[in-house]
Amino acid sequence: MLNSADLSDRNIISTRSFSRERIDKILSFAEKLEPVARKEARCDILDGKVMALLFFEPSTRTKMSFETAMIRLGGKVINMGSVEASSVAKGETLADTVRVISGYADAIVLRHPREGAALMASEFASVPIINAGDGAGHHPTQTLLDLYTIRRESHLDDLTITLAGDLKYGRTVHSLCYALSNYGARINLVSPPELRMPERILEEMDRRRIEINIFDSLEAAVKDSDILYMTRIQRERFPDPAEFSKVSKEMRVTKKLLENVRPDLKVMHPLPRVDEILPEVDSTPHACYFRQAFYGVPVRMAVLSMAMGIDDIDPETCIRRI
Ligand code: CP
Repeated sequence: MLNSADLSDRNIISTRSFSRERIDKILSFAEKLEPVARKEARCDILDGKVMALLFFEPSTRTKMSFETAMIRLGGKVINMGSVEASSVAKGETLADTVRVISGYADAIVLRHPREGAALMASEFASVPIINAGDGAGHHPTQTLLDLYTIRRESHLDDLTITLAGDLKYGRTVHSLCYALSNYGARINLVSPPELRMPERILEEMDRRRIEINIFDSLEAAVKDSDILYMTRIQRERFPDPAEFSKVSKEMRVTKKLLENVRPDLKVMHPLPRVDEILPEVDSTPHACYFRQAFYGVPVRMAVLSMAMGIDDIDPETCIRRI
């Protein structure tokens, strides 16, 4: 096990205070591991290590891409399984659960509905905690894979990005704003009035001298953008179903919307989508949300390796082409 001084650096709770250097280091490490994620090469740097999954909320991408990342690097995975089938159902606290699992694993990946749960867990665990989403709080590995996607598919410097949909409750867009402020992006915002970006984030972006432009229409916002980052609008945010229906139609990515955009615009989405991006968009060169979900594997490979004490590799010695 790592000592507690090492641990504070190896926990991944939020990317809010991550420097550009730290982000770039993770993304470059992920790039070296991408051939392994693509099944073109082998690398067993996590042979003998164990990752524990503690998911108190549903997940497809985060859970399975962490599992894939660990297995492809030669490690093993243990999984608490559903809350109902674990001793959480008998009333065991999160603090006790992570204390116990620290004795079984080399890192714990935690998704929990309560904001602040990952930070609290890190105070009781004796192995690194990786936050896989804590309610309305943070989802740092999603932010890192979003940045990786932008770097791979477009460019992080001199970027114009449109964030659209639920900007009030969407934790991914909040974290992305903070992370992109390291790169001096221009950020366009478009959302229903009920779901505007919180004032505290706009003020923080102003302090960081980030150009923010607020639009009423998706069409106007996206015209000169390099990236359109869509998010899901949840039906339950609207007491009136007619109002939800109107808003969700206005916030929809269609082939028609993409007729007047830059040819190299990429459309991203953390997924799952419902109907905010029509399936007709999937076959256009703009769609990159499924590749974005794939990039979760190399990024989580890098994050897990770093959490377990490997900060970089020499591909010449560590990666074998197959
Ligand atoms: N993007 C994301 O976190 O997806 P899951 O909820 O399926 O993990």
